[in-house]
Amino acid sequence: KLKIVTIGGGSSYTPEIVEGFIKRYDELPITELWLVDVEAGKEKLEIVGNMAKRMVEKAGLPIDVHLTLDRREALKDADFVTTQFRVGLLDARAKDERIPLKYNVIGQETNGPGGLFKGLRTIPVILDICKDMEELCPNAWLVNFTNPAGMVTEAVLRYSNIKNVVGLCNVPIMMKMQVAELLGADGDRVHIDFAGLNHMVFGLNVYLDGENVTDTVLDKMTSADKNEMTMRNIKNLDWEPSFIKGLKAIPCPYHRYYYKTSQMLEAELEEAENEGTRAEVVQGVERDLFELYKDPNLAEKPEQLSKRGGAYYSDAACSLINSIYNDKRDIQTVNTINNGAIQSIPNDSAIEINCVITKDGPKPIGIGDLPVPVRGLVQQIKSFERVGAEAAVTGDYNTALLAMTINPLVPSDEIAKNLMDDLLEAHKAHLPQF
Ligand code: G6P
Ligand code: MN
Repeated sequence: KLKIVTIGGGSSYTPEIVEGFIKRYDELPITELWLVDVEAGKEKLEIVGNMAKRMVEKAGLPIDVHLTLDRREALKDADFVTTQFRVGLLDARAKDERIPLKYNVIGQETNGPGGLFKGLRTIPVILDICKDMEELCPNAWLVNFTNPAGMVTEAVLRYSNIKNVVGLCNVPIMMKMQVAELLGADGDRVHIDFAGLNHMVFGLNVYLDGENVTDTVLDKMTSADKNEMTMRNIKNLDWEPSFIKGLKAIPCPYHRYYYKTSQMLEAELEEAENEGTRAEVVQGVERDLFELYKDPNLAEKPEQLSKRGGAYYSDAACSLINSIYNDKRDIQTVNTINNGAIQSIPNDSAIEINCVITKDGPKPIGIGDLPVPVRGLVQQIKSFERVGAEAAVTGDYNTALLAMTINPLVPSDEIAKNLMDDLLEAHKAHLPQF
């Protein structure tokens, strides 16, 4: 028996993960896949769940797909629990993106005030899931993609008894694919030393067939014939070449919010005015996707799904589960407890880093420390994540305001307070702890 539970199963991303499991069935013979959602996601669960059933049937595999609103029934004796839920759905994300813009502050799903509020809504729910897991499947692995994945993993490590937790993101995998493309090589010839935090990760060294080609990559990614080094949800504004060469590391696409704050803000204001914020655009993409999923003849992941920023996340998720299940001991980039792998980050905090993936979970490959020029920012974001997680658990106003104010994207305590009061009011239905 191999039972997988996906919480937030009604997500439009579900066909990603189902495809990933189907592809790996020979090594990862899943017997049961439970897709769980809440009342508000019932209709979506039905539509995408039936699509999942068709995919499995078409592949001719004996995987039982269950759709349920009963999380506890689903969790009973699970082996792996993946989480991809969004408290308050995309409407809540749209508020996280729009409201900060009124204050000329970046409005983003996982960074700045939006990231904090997504954490405040999400952490109580993930901690409830952890309690259920302790009781119903204490040995299962929790594989979390729910954003903000860094803050959420931090909260699970700090405030739950679940030790088997891994946070996942598609950014490292996408960066590797894009660097490989830049080098004109297949992805499996490229290795990148990743270290940092979720959506705050750096590629410290790049190797092609074992040879260090970091400088070549830095040159190419700032040259005229560069490729798209970004995600679908992040505007591809050019890096200043001399900055990147001075940095001597590859920033992740999200670093644009920190190193190009004013241009990114300008771009966001313009987008909000024209096509809408990213959440509003994604609502349109989702509507189209669900129309497609309704088609009883569709039994494979549609091309349109690649318009989402999380495209290919299933590769990260399914490879991780596969490697834990089969004790593969390959290297993957995941969010896990630091335990000294990065010296300047607390040992008991979550970091995003290359790990050897064993049956006992990810074993981080220590890097010593982050280069001095990026160390401070990473530490600052870690402090933000910790204080944010504490605010989510305690519901304490002052702690939440502290998190908001120490975030580098928020310019002052006064703006932080006004913005926070606005966001607290807008999200009050999903913030019972405040
Ligand atoms: C990125 C991130 C994900 C995030 C997604 C948003 O790839 O790694 O954590 O959820 O983009 O994409 P969306 O299509 O929802 O804007
Ligand atoms: Mn991510």
